[in-house]
Order: sequence, then structure tokens, then C-alpha cells
Amino acid sequence: MSHAEDHAGTRRDFLYYATAGAGAVATGAAVWPLVNQMNPSADVQALSSIRVDVSGIEVGTQLTVKWLGKPVFIRRRTQEEIDAARATAISDLPDGSAENANKPGADASDENRSLDESGEWLVMMGVCTHLGCVPLGNGAGDFGGWFCPCHGSHYDTAGRIRKGPAPRNLDIPVAAFEDESTIKLG
Ligand code: FES
Repeated sequence: MSHAEDHAGTRRDFLYYATAGAGAVATGAAVWPLVNQMNPSADVQALSSIRVDVSGIEVGTQLTVKWLGKPVFIRRRTQEEIDAARATAISDLPDGSAENANKPGADASDENRSLDESGEWLVMMGVCTHLGCVPLGNGAGDFGGWFCPCHGSHYDTAGRIRKGPAPRNLDIPVAAFEDESTIKLG
């Protein structure tokens, strides 16, 4: 091998490694904004309120809206769903916390999970607390609420984890009725 060929080979190797290095840096830069997006800070959340018209939601159905890039379930529950959730003892729940941003530290009773006193309205993040899949609704799963098909987590009619790998009840975001037919998220 001549000196010229030897040199060319070294140069190609150098270019290859330099390119790979630049690629790794670019990937790192792309990942961070995504992670930040998934964990919006409190002030970002406050700035990102949305209003949802719920007047068209029939009893026994759910509207899914997108908020801060994530699905939010707004369910208008039937009396049977409310009764089932309210008849469940907190001692039967794997997660005894309400996981409700409107009621920090409250227990997981259905009264602490629902938006209104009668329990007709339930607003939750549609994000499985295991690894973030979107659970199926409309009475899915063994407890008549939601079922996450990714790894088999069953949530009851109050969105509380009952069976499967998810560690926590579905999170309840900051939400309130602004008037009779409008729910404000954030
Ligand atoms: S992401 Fe829902 S069970 Fe794993």
C-alpha cells in the first residue's frame, strides 16, 4: 500500500466518525424539547387553558379533547357508573389517592374524583399511568370503565386503577365548570 492510499483511508475513517458524532449531537438536541413538552410546568399549564363546550355530550358517552398535546376524557356518566364507583371501598383500591389536581392530598373516593357533586361528570387525562398509552373507554375492561390494551390495565368507572401494571389512578387535571355547558381545563 502506498502512502497516498493509506492517507486516503484514514481520511475516510475520520469523515465517517465526524459525521456519526454530529448525528449524535443532533439527536440529543431533538430529544430535549420533546421531553419538556411531556412535562409542562405549572406556569405553562396556566397559560394554556382551554374551554370545552360539553352541552352535546349525552349521558353514557365520552368526549375526548386534546389539551397540551395529550388526550383528556370528559365523560358524562350514567347513574349505574356513579353508583358502582361510589359503592367501592377505598381499601379495595391499589391507589388510595384521588390523583386530582383540584384536590391535592384527597383520598380516592368517587366524590373526590368527579367534577360535580352529583358525580355525573368525570374529567381525566386519557393517559395510562403505566407507560402512557391511551386507554379504551365506553365500559371497557373488567371494572366497566377503561382498559389499557398495551399491557392490560383495568380502570373502574371513576378511572381508578383496579388491576394490571398501572401504578396510579388516571390523573385528573385542573378543571372546573365555567358555566352550565362549559368546562375549563387548566
Ligand atoms: S401503558 Fe397502559 S398498561 Fe402499560
